[in-house]
Amino acid sequence: MQKPSHHILVCNSFRMSGTPQGVCAKEGSGPLLQYLQEELDDHNLNDVAVACTSCLKVCDRGPIIVVHPENWWFGRMNSEEAVDAVIQSIEKGTPDPQYLIT
Ligand code: FES
Repeated sequence: MQKPSHHILVCNSFRMSGTPQGVCAKEGSGPLLQYLQEELDDHNLNDVAVACTSCLKVCDRGPIIVVHPENWWFGRMNSEEAVDAVIQSIEKGTPDPQYLIT
C-alpha cells in the first residue's frame, strides 16, 4: 500500500450532538469537495487524500481546510479561489498567507 503524501481534511461540521450542520457545512464546504477533487486530479496530485471531518472548533473562521503533514489550517474556504490557494500551497510547499490561520 502506498500511503498518501498529504491529507486534506475538510470540515463538514459533523457533530455527535447538537446542531447537525455547523458553520462550515452551511457556508458551503460540502459542494467544494467535488471541485477540490477535480483540481487535485487536474494537477496530478494523485497521492493526496481528502477526508471530511467533524467540527474542528474554529467555526468563526470557517469553512476550514487542514493540510497534513504540514498542519496548515486554512480558513474562509468558501470559494474556488480559496481551494486553488490550498492546492498551490501544497505544490509550492509554502502556505498561502491570505487564508492561513496562525
Ligand atoms: S463547523 Fe467547521 S470548524 Fe466548526
